[in-house]
Amino acid sequence: MTAKQTETTTRKRLFIRTYGCQMNVYDSERMRDLLVPLGYEPADAPDGADLVILNTCHIREKAAEKVYSELGRLKPLKAEKEAAGGRMTVTVAGCVAQAEGAEIQRRAPVVDLVVGPQTYHRLPELIARVHRDRGEALETEFEVEEKFDALAVPKRHVEGYSAFVTVQEGCDKFCSFCVVPYTRGAEYSRPAAQITAEVRALAAQGVREITLLGQNVNAYSGEAPAGDEASGRWGLARLIRHLAMIGGIDRIRFTTSHPNDMDDDLITAFGEEEKLMPYLHLPVQAGSDRILKAMNRKHTAAEYTALIERLRTVRPDIALSGDFIVGFPGEQESDFAATLKLVEETGYASAFSFKYSRRPGTPGAAMGAQVDEAVMAERLARLQALLDSQQQGFNASMVGKRLPVLFEREGRNAGQLGGRSPYLQAVHCDGPKELIGQIAMVEVLSASKNALGARLLRGESCAA
Ligand code: SAH
Ligand code: SF4
Ligand code: F3S
Repeated sequence: MTAKQTETTTRKRLFIRTYGCQMNVYDSERMRDLLVPLGYEPADAPDGADLVILNTCHIREKAAEKVYSELGRLKPLKAEKEAAGGRMTVTVAGCVAQAEGAEIQRRAPVVDLVVGPQTYHRLPELIARVHRDRGEALETEFEVEEKFDALAVPKRHVEGYSAFVTVQEGCDKFCSFCVVPYTRGAEYSRPAAQITAEVRALAAQGVREITLLGQNVNAYSGEAPAGDEASGRWGLARLIRHLAMIGGIDRIRFTTSHPNDMDDDLITAFGEEEKLMPYLHLPVQAGSDRILKAMNRKHTAAEYTALIERLRTVRPDIALSGDFIVGFPGEQESDFAATLKLVEETGYASAFSFKYSRRPGTPGAAMGAQVDEAVMAERLARLQALLDSQQQGFNASMVGKRLPVLFEREGRNAGQLGGRSPYLQAVHCDGPKELIGQIAMVEVLSASKNALGARLLRGESCAA
């Protein structure tokens, strides 16, 4: 047997399934980065895997329930693996793990390990403990200390040219419908120097676009880097300006923001910082002041609209995106009409909308006047029809325009490339593979609800 063969036969298969928001996507990438140096090889199906991680989401009831059906599907796979003399370690990570850790193990004995979003850096140690408890040998390839060295390595494995970077975790806002403050804990901002080092390393691997992540990303307030102690803490705008100086990084985005944390500096940055893309996800949830108050959003519809106006003054072409909840307890037809009105006035390039889901432990769950499911479904359909037509209209307004596109992959058809416009629209275009990882100018020829069709403009340079 050659050395190479020995290595491949001893490598263990790792399967990670990710649910929920981009922060979970980022966490899953980091878990993979932790485990690969310990001999795990990422697999794209759970069949035969030695380690399965479900990185879960608790935001709505449906999201949380998905985990239990997935665990049901894993049961026979785990039994098969054992019948073949192997072991499958099933791990539940993420926000369901945080919220219902004990219940998961009671409801689903197939689960070996539960690990919350704040403790997944301890995965190697926890997995080793599961193995030891089963009477298996501890991981032998690495000494424990080396494992922890592996953990400290900031190196990330990235695929493609656009990467997520978590800069802020947790939330102190306590909107009355939301589990995030309970599953992700209090707000924490990573030091600016740590983020800068991570982004530099990404740029060195060819990444052109970064999306800064946080449940409340515009509340970012991180320790200033050494040499700039006088500034104390940096806000998000300061961080963006700093990251924009890193060579190779041409596009910066951030998500998700709360309207109350859109400070002057951040608004101004949209007008000044060329690398900051003209796209903002700024959820409002509802258009009725009465409902906004009950949701504990701490702003009115008029304050939101005024904020949008200020953003459009500094960056007239900014594309807006939002989140909406229909059927919050007490929502009446007149409240819902106020949401439709706000949507009409704002004009969204894209949006996510949901039926209210009653989450145990949140203040909303205890409120009277829960809205009937059929009423919610009907309101959601009306809201989505409006949002869809706005999205279609926004895309159609691009036809005939010239746009810089960051090409990220080959398209579905031969000779086609796929990329993103500055406004985060998917763009398809015929072009050579060499353009993947590059930003090139296109002319938009067609638009559908979900994508733009375009042709390459040869020889035209573009800055962003
Ligand atoms: N931190 C972000 C979003 C967190 S969750 C923010 O504050 O905007 C993403 C979206 O899920 C929310 O914006 C909200 O629209 C939706 N959501 C959260 N809790 C929900 C619930 N209980 N029922 C329905 N939708 C919910
Ligand atoms: Fe949830 Fe509100 Fe915090 Fe967003 S701001 S994560 S909706 S509590
Ligand atoms: Fe879901 Fe947790 Fe994100 S609840 S939306 S995975 S923060």
